[in-house]
Amino acid sequence: MDAPGREHDGEARERAGGVTAEHAADGVSDVAMVGLGVMGRNLVLNLSDHGLAVSVHDRDRRAVRDFLGGEASGRAVRGFDDLASLALSLGRPRRVMLMVPAGAPVDAVLDDLVPHLEPGDVVIDGGNSHYADTARRARELRERGLLFVGAGVSGGAEGARVGPAIMPGGDPAAWPLVAGMLQDIAARVDGQPCCDWVGEGGAGHYVKMVHNGIEYADMQLIAEAYHYMRVVVGLTVRESAGVFAEWAGSRLDSYLVEITADVLARVDDDGLPLVDKVRDVAGQKGTGRWAAADALERGVPLDLTAAAVFARALSALKDERVAAAQTLRGPGRSGVSFDRLGQLRDLEDALYAAKVVAYAQGFALLRRASDDLGWGVPLSTVPLLWRGGCVIRSRILGDVAAAYAEDPELPDLMTAPRFARELAGCQAGWRRTLTRAIAAGVPMPATSAALAHYDGYRSERLPANLIEAQRDYFGAHGYERVDAPRGERFRTDWTGRGGT
Ligand code: 6PG
Repeated sequence: MDAPGREHDGEARERAGGVTAEHAADGVSDVAMVGLGVMGRNLVLNLSDHGLAVSVHDRDRRAVRDFLGGEASGRAVRGFDDLASLALSLGRPRRVMLMVPAGAPVDAVLDDLVPHLEPGDVVIDGGNSHYADTARRARELRERGLLFVGAGVSGGAEGARVGPAIMPGGDPAAWPLVAGMLQDIAARVDGQPCCDWVGEGGAGHYVKMVHNGIEYADMQLIAEAYHYMRVVVGLTVRESAGVFAEWAGSRLDSYLVEITADVLARVDDDGLPLVDKVRDVAGQKGTGRWAAADALERGVPLDLTAAAVFARALSALKDERVAAAQTLRGPGRSGVSFDRLGQLRDLEDALYAAKVVAYAQGFALLRRASDDLGWGVPLSTVPLLWRGGCVIRSRILGDVAAAYAEDPELPDLMTAPRFARELAGCQAGWRRTLTRAIAAGVPMPATSAALAHYDGYRSERLPANLIEAQRDYFGAHGYERVDAPRGERFRTDWTGRGGT
């Protein structure tokens, strides 16, 4: 199954922390890839572009054959039918990357692979694994002297091919052995690789999970803005495409806004907008749900991601919605807007402000998890990893990094002077947008959750005193008084009649 090798770029391989040129002459590979789905294949081509010799394996032998005879032909890529020979083909310490579906398939590959590895070898899981699995695997492999890295990889198929964002974490001893290689294949912004060590255990996959939580929120916010443009402002699809194209050059500059403009501009064979022919049922593979569930467990507000997950769930109830549309009454048709420009300006404020809140919540969750689990995730580095290659890459990330660099103890991103100023500037338009949306019966769950969070976070007093009193009333939980020291609890017979 060997494909013909090609001349190696020794210098690139040395930089990548790889094996020496003499190994290359022996036919020793620098790294292995297990799993030749589109992400795995593209990462192999990317590694190969950087002068590394790659051994590959997939449990589907045809996938290996097709790859070697197709995209990988003429490259220093060799295929192996089994993991034992794959391991034998590698220079020491071995570096094996897995790009297989998250969950049981990763454990299955590890079970088969580990017996063929030796102490000091490195295994990198580049899939979308759950961070708790990654932490467990890092522990288990460490007991056998192996170094495990859980690396979040973002950017889809294209990112994998030309430069993804990579968020590696796990056993710190592995980092020097893989840093060069991973940073070489990652995206670059201002000469800096979008790849750096983010912390121990499951930190890499946790950072990727938070990335996806923000991705869910951002996508939902954009979809809500689009819905508002169509129904409240009364724009055509083509006009909406124009607005997003304009926004792509503003402070909203981001990959997701850019692709939204492209999607909306695309017409079907009949000349009508293709987006209107896409069924309004959103799928989800699970990382957004993981982020929301983890936030619930930790007691950190992540309302926008949760709203996005639930919005996808609601979209999936298509048949019920179709039936309910006949039964449940809305506010009726509202008039067309006479101030389109004003409404769009307000909407831009709403989208930008809500996006800031989505980032603030994502980073607050990341900080809490890092503190809870002792990972030491560098909050000012993470946004820099997301500036290129990944799905949420956007202009705002430079400002997020600057805010944490300026004040590493920043309690919440919203309170950074720059963002506090911007949120204040956006709030009038943000509130007007939501008021009009509510009046028109257009749901904007993430945009409104963002405003509720902003208003809640800036409230010195919240009605939680009433919740505490209710809990004490029916559950005798006790409560703290504002005029007594923290921790001292009081009980009251709220009716004065005693009893339960
Ligand atoms: C990325 C994406 C990717 C994600 C898909 C699908 O960063 O490249 O986050 O990892 O898995 O976009 O996600 P959903 O099916 O959950 O929308």
